Amino acid sequence: MENYTYKNPTKVIFGKDQLESLKSEIPTYGNKVLLVYGTGSIKKNGLYEKVIKTLNEIDAEVHELSGVEPNPRITTVKKGVDLCKQHQIDFILAVGGGSVIDATKAIAAGAKYDGDPWDLVIKKAPVEAALPFGTVLTLAATGSEANSGSVITNWETKEKYGWGSPLVFPQFSILDPENTFSVPRDHTVYGMVDMMSHVFETYFHPETHAPLQDRFCESLLLTVKETAPQLLEDLEDYEHRATILYAGHIALNGSLGVGYSGDWATHNIEHAVSAVYDIPHAGGLAILFPNWMKHVLHENVSRFKQVAVRVFGVDPEGKTDEEAALEGIDKLREFWSSLGAPTTLSDYGIDDSQLEVMADKAMSRGDFGRFKILNREDVLAILRASL
Ligand code: NZQ
Ligand code: ZN
Repeated sequence: MENYTYKNPTKVIFGKDQLESLKSEIPTYGNKVLLVYGTGSIKKNGLYEKVIKTLNEIDAEVHELSGVEPNPRITTVKKGVDLCKQHQIDFILAVGGGSVIDATKAIAAGAKYDGDPWDLVIKKAPVEAALPFGTVLTLAATGSEANSGSVITNWETKEKYGWGSPLVFPQFSILDPENTFSVPRDHTVYGMVDMMSHVFETYFHPETHAPLQDRFCESLLLTVKETAPQLLEDLEDYEHRATILYAGHIALNGSLGVGYSGDWATHNIEHAVSAVYDIPHAGGLAILFPNWMKHVLHENVSRFKQVAVRVFGVDPEGKTDEEAALEGIDKLREFWSSLGAPTTLSDYGIDDSQLEVMADKAMSRGDFGRFKILNREDVLAILRASL
């Protein structure tokens, strides 16, 4: 195991009726609040009204930025930064899924930066300060509610990049399973694919001895695998929503990945795909991940066999390690597809016309991946296998 330092300062407030805690959390930071939300779901499900009522009860001066897109755009971030500067905002409250939270992180850092906030995303300038912010999470998926990462798209240049800073951990996040009841079936599935993918990105690393981390990862994968079909039977089942909300949070709050560095190549390729085609992040992951697995299998076949046996119930008896490993990858594909996730890029109408463009975008920061370092040819091979 490698040395590590772990710190996650986000206060997680989990469970029913926790919106009330906004009243004690927000006033610590000031009175002027920028409320950031997406394209309409919180108005439909009634959460917007509840948040406004709560903010009114603490006499907050509320300004609003609505319309944050799924795959949030830098143009929207700039609007938020302008609002923060214009109204001298003290605190930002993000109410939404990963996109709203990621945009909020960029707004928080951009509000304390004199230049173009895109500089922070492309790492042309360091993040030196950020406004404090909190979140009310409405979709279990990204883990953005308790991590310091953010992914922002520049639609003009068709670029989508991850960036992060310890300064953009949320101060607090409210995780109420009931706030996820209205997530439609497709985004519920994408969310579960995303959190499983975060575990895979963590699990496939070059470190040879991390048995406890392995078991944590495997138990998370098993739990999502068992819970997913039950949740899809009843999208308003509190206990299943709670399990999945907790799983998404743990999958990417940094705790699973201590003591080694995960791979993250598939996320990088997916970001290149959704930069060009604006598809849901985890729809792309569901297509790409099994193909990445097959492409890198020979780096460490026994690791793939381990997950095949322990998580996907593959019986290794009479099989070579490679056969067992490949059966596990096929079972993963079957599982995601049984939930309704896409399996090929053509499911989104994507053909081979932009493969080179996507490969160039994935390579824009050089070779990547840690379990196996990928070059442009590798990326093209994975994309071709995904058509
Ligand atoms: O626009 P709104 O109204 O918010 O509607 C959203 C959106 O249409 C809807 N939704 C959210 N909560 C809902 C709801 N609909 C009904 N009821 C609710 N309670 O769901 C749609 C998708 O929302 P979005 O926030 O885009 O989804 P997600 O949480 O999956 O976030 C995806 C974004 O996060 C990035 C992705 O690349 C993508 O841009 N990621 C961020 C990460 C991070 N910060 O750590 C890591 C991830 O790997 C990922 O890359
Ligand atoms: Zn993801």
